[in-house]
Amino acid sequence: MDPHDKPEVAHNSTMPALHTTTDLARTEAPVTWKAYLICAFASFGGIFFGYDSGYVNGVNGSALFIHLVEGPDKDALSSPHSSLIVSILSAGTFFGALIAGDVAEMIGRKWTVSIGCLIYLIGVIIQMITGASGTSTLGDIVAGRLIAGLGVGFESAIVILYMSEICPKKVRGALVAGYQFCITIGLLLASCVVYATENRDDTGSYRIPIGIQFAWGLILGIGLMFLPDSPRYFVKRGMLDRAADSLGKLRGQPIESEYIQNELSEIVANEEYERSIIPSTNWYSGWANCFKGGLWQQKSNLRRTILGTSLQMMQQWTGVNFIFYYSTIFLQSTGAISNTFLISLIFTLVNVCSTPLSFYTVEKFGRRPLLVYGALGMLICQFLVAIIGVTVGFNHTHTDPTDATKTLANNISAVNAQIAFIAIFIFFFASTWGPGAWIVIGEIFPLPIRSRGVALSTASNWLWNTIIAVITPYMVGSQYGNLKSSVFFVWGGLCTAAFVYAYFLVPETKGLSLEQVDRMMEESTPRTSAKWVPHETFAASMGISGDVLSKDVIQDVEKSATTF
Ligand code: BGC
Repeated sequence: MDPHDKPEVAHNSTMPALHTTTDLARTEAPVTWKAYLICAFASFGGIFFGYDSGYVNGVNGSALFIHLVEGPDKDALSSPHSSLIVSILSAGTFFGALIAGDVAEMIGRKWTVSIGCLIYLIGVIIQMITGASGTSTLGDIVAGRLIAGLGVGFESAIVILYMSEICPKKVRGALVAGYQFCITIGLLLASCVVYATENRDDTGSYRIPIGIQFAWGLILGIGLMFLPDSPRYFVKRGMLDRAADSLGKLRGQPIESEYIQNELSEIVANEEYERSIIPSTNWYSGWANCFKGGLWQQKSNLRRTILGTSLQMMQQWTGVNFIFYYSTIFLQSTGAISNTFLISLIFTLVNVCSTPLSFYTVEKFGRRPLLVYGALGMLICQFLVAIIGVTVGFNHTHTDPTDATKTLANNISAVNAQIAFIAIFIFFFASTWGPGAWIVIGEIFPLPIRSRGVALSTASNWLWNTIIAVITPYMVGSQYGNLKSSVFFVWGGLCTAAFVYAYFLVPETKGLSLEQVDRMMEESTPRTSAKWVPHETFAASMGISGDVLSKDVIQDVEKSATTF
């Protein structure tokens, strides 16, 4: 659509340029309930993420499913089959996230998520027909999970991008934390559904957990169609009238209001500024731009790409998924816990209940303190689990008198203390690094590389998720590393790395617009970033403040508009 065909809704030549810090602080409209609801809806995408990670363990344990895959005389999946079925989803999500970065530049954020939902639904249908006569059970489930994974990859990268771009800056952290909250609810739902269906002796034991996923795809895919797309996407595509329209809807203000004009002019000016420094002329240079700039340069895209991808790597290195993927097996191996499902459920509940704390703390104290102190809390808990284990707890076992193939922990109280510290570790993760990593990757990239930067960071999350899922069984398996609870020395060590990393490398982005974050990262170091205050708008420095949709600016933005 040609912006010139539309009335110049946004022109307001009497609007003052913003120069003072107070002006800069008020460049956004007051947050309305409608804005909250629109932004919060997208966080529903987190349910896919959590549910998909969680339900497969139950399906893999269903007797009927095992018979279909391995034959009627087997009572467990073989290790290669089980690891293939679990990890194929992450392979799909890894590639899905990367592809989605490009798609979001071409067709917009919300349509990319909706397409992701469609791909996901196709994957679910293929998994649903698993076991239908004449098809290969293993082939169906693997193909279905690969395709569903592509959809989850689309959704997990682009929901974060979309939310970061549409949320008001004052509550952006809290709303993106809502996405993490939905991940935790997805994990909890998966545990409950699996618990309720695992003992069925019909195909419902695996078809019900699989089929329920259909609801998530439909709700998000259809719901998003009715929401406005990201104004930043429209600016990047040179569609300023649509950007103004979308911003007006998101902020609940008329498009000619000063709030909308100021915010839009800042987005436009930032885009022009970034493009003037690192232009992108084709698909290849669009990707290459993510890696431009020296490691030691303040204004470097490479630095931001490394920050986003390593932050997600660190989030996985905390070892949280060791608990969510393997806690049942780990607890069983202590020989001390009779109801391992209940303890796993408690871990999942702690995860759900602790996350909302971050809605408040991430805006009150900021991202940096959350990540620094969160890592500190986690490392203390993990070292305590490990130390208790080697001194009195789980690493001291004797042979089970009733079954010579099993061992029992000598000191049940010590094992209980270890379990309590694992729960406290989850509390720290859920209230800090869980949401924090997702919030920060949505904020640190400048618009020209944002969708690919977020995609790369999300892909890094899934890559490390897979690597950890594949190697941990070897670390704790009795026939391999047999580390028992000493595996927590490894997680404690990695959380120490995360603590140092957060202190030296994570900047404070609280309360800033995405454009102000861009400037802050140019002008401060991570350790001085919290003190940085906005002092000049991009709009003022580019000389377009107060005249956003004047013909000259429109032409300029249109000329430079790109899908790269
Ligand atoms: C992580 C997942 C993890 C989940 C637990 C997410 O932020 O990326 O890997 O399973 O939190 O709540």
